[in-house]
Amino acid sequence: MPFVTRLTERLGIEHPILLAPMDRAADGRLAAAVSHAGGLGLIGGGYGDADWLRLAFPAAGNARVGCGFITWRLAENPELLDLALAHRPAALMLSFGDPAPFADRIKAAGAVLICQVQTVAQARQAVEAGADIIVAQGTEAGGHGASRSTFTLVPEIADGWPDIVLVAAGGVADGRGLAAALALGADGVLVGTRFCAAEESGMHPNARQRILQASGDDTVRSRIFDISRDLDWPAGYTGRVIRNDHSARWLGREDELARSMDEVRPAYARAREDGDFDMAGVHAGEAVGIIRDLPPAGEIVARMIAEAEATIARMATLAR
Ligand SMILES: Cc1cc2nc3c(=O)[nH]c(=O)nc-3n(C[C@H](O)[C@H](O)[C@H](O)COP(=O)(O)O)c2cc1C
Repeated sequence: MPFVTRLTERLGIEHPILLAPMDRAADGRLAAAVSHAGGLGLIGGGYGDADWLRLAFPAAGNARVGCGFITWRLAENPELLDLALAHRPAALMLSFGDPAPFADRIKAAGAVLICQVQTVAQARQAVEAGADIIVAQGTEAGGHGASRSTFTLVPEIADGWPDIVLVAAGGVADGRGLAAALALGADGVLVGTRFCAAEESGMHPNARQRILQASGDDTVRSRIFDISRDLDWPAGYTGRVIRNDHSARWLGREDELARSMDEVRPAYARAREDGDFDMAGVHAGEAVGIIRDLPPAGEIVARMIAEAEATIARMATLAR
């Protein structure tokens, strides 16, 4: 039995599951695989590499996909939005910054505007900007985010804006998470870390192995891996990563790291190129602890739906 929610109806998809637009990991192939499985794949526009983006859309073939940008970065390079909109994405997602300057262009192009937020104040800002769908991202999430948890942020936004289509993100990696998100008032889920460990993922194979081996205890929110790449993230955001030698060396010494960049910069760039994840960061969420295999994305979607149905059926037997 499929789940029919406001999300599936608004986007015209079969299952209420979105692939998070993850920088590099969510490439055209992975986005297409999620869309073909009945969800919606969002290509990761990330930090805004035009050449990468030009390849990502054709790589999705005939699949109906969307795209997502890091908003503060898009503001530095706004013509990238035209590049993405030229491919007629089903949806355009903005995260981490004020969506207002871009909202009209996105909607005029016929794309559904999705805004990912980390606080209630940001949800208000997104609604005022004209968001069609809000993604409430909890701190459990992999990659960049803030400090509110999925468990409280989702119902608070659901109560505040009962008419907005709401998606939960952060910590959802199986059908239990999908069922929980629906119980909290969401219309669906946006999934990142679980799809990093999909067969079609664009993430480096060595990084995917780290996900399979890690516990949620092994992840930490930090600025270390932004400093190490000269990424100047706005205050309030940190990246959730799997701890490694580099984080052990610099956690709590971020200012000293910033002063040591002449030495660290080339070594860090080399580590990323070589797939050396003792030094390079693996962005991943607390859900790593429940991810133990690398199936095709379509199988992840199918499993998530079947498990959510089983979870809800089991819960129904408890209510006697
Ligand atoms: C490897 C990785 C890269 C990410 N890159 C981006 C990004 O470029 N833009 C963005 O909006 N979110 C990014 N995110 C965050 C996701 O949008 C999403 O909120 C998160 O993955 C959801 O939590 P989960 O990882 O527990 O599923 C990234 C997440 C991961 C794991």
